[in-house]
Amino acid sequence: MIRHFLNTQDLSRAELDALLDEAARLKQSPLGRDLEGRTIALLFFNPSMRTRSSFEIGAWQLGAHAVVLAPGKDAWGIEFEPNAVMDGDAEEHVAEVAQVLSRYCDLIGVRAFPKFRDWAYDREDKVLKAFAQHSRVPVINLETITHPCQELAHALTLREKFGKDLRGKKYLLTWTWHPKPLNTAVANSALTIATRLGMEVTLLCPNPDYLLDERYLDIAKQNVGEAGGSFRITHDIEDGYRGADVVYAKSWGALPYFGAWEGEAPMRAMLKHFIVDEDKMALTNNGLFSHCLPLRRNIKATDGVMDAPYCVAVDEAENRLHVQKAVMKQLIHWKSGAQA
Ligand code: CP
Repeated sequence: MIRHFLNTQDLSRAELDALLDEAARLKQSPLGRDLEGRTIALLFFNPSMRTRSSFEIGAWQLGAHAVVLAPGKDAWGIEFEPNAVMDGDAEEHVAEVAQVLSRYCDLIGVRAFPKFRDWAYDREDKVLKAFAQHSRVPVINLETITHPCQELAHALTLREKFGKDLRGKKYLLTWTWHPKPLNTAVANSALTIATRLGMEVTLLCPNPDYLLDERYLDIAKQNVGEAGGSFRITHDIEDGYRGADVVYAKSWGALPYFGAWEGEAPMRAMLKHFIVDEDKMALTNNGLFSHCLPLRRNIKATDGVMDAPYCVAVDEAENRLHVQKAVMKQLIHWKSGAQA
């Protein structure tokens, strides 16, 4: 059976730790021939700077070749609905796209953000699941409604700063201001990995409208049950920041207004004070700050925070390169084992 990399919850804790160990090793010794002669197709339905460049460069550093495609722009538009009468814009179906790329490539990466019209539809992650269903090679989630590669980079960064055992660390995931309603993927992922690693996790968001999908709140609770640590929700900024060892910031759209964003706008306009600033960071336990990037300075976090020694966002972005190389190696290893 093909093993994909769709969500970190699909990995055992031992597999997760092994990936992080291998990423740390690859960081020390970046060049190799582990993926000699291999190819990876990277499909971007949405823009990217870090994901695209780190995957392309990481593949090259291990001897592989990456092909980057933007369906609907430089490649044909793709239909995802089963049994669709394809009289719209899409020129081909994912069934053929995934199978053809499987003939050319050893791995397929997919970035497909929500359509931002109907959360009940988007939460099913249909594009990623369709590729996983029709592909004959492992599929990597490059960010859909979760961002598992970012999770690994975040985890590696925290391990570098605090050591491998993160239990007992106070972790704050805070909503932050942004003028637009953004994807919940990184927030879903931060909650997932922080609880998986047994930290004392707080989700700070302005009010219950900004709570994450029940699925990810349930995963957080499940992870606490298995890994220890804790998970709580607060809407009080000072309560959230006080004593935190790690502050991870992300902005996202309020799910009750998904697809009807004009309803959220007046509420969002009142929430600019959720910006991460030096006064809030001063409440922490000399805490680290990080963000997945891209980040609008002086909107999501101040210059003072971004330029502070405690900001590890660029370290985390670098670690994308190392963890993704470990993921590509592991998927090829599993695939070879399944074929043997
Ligand atoms: N964090 C991240 O995924 O960055 P990009 O959107 O630039 O790929």
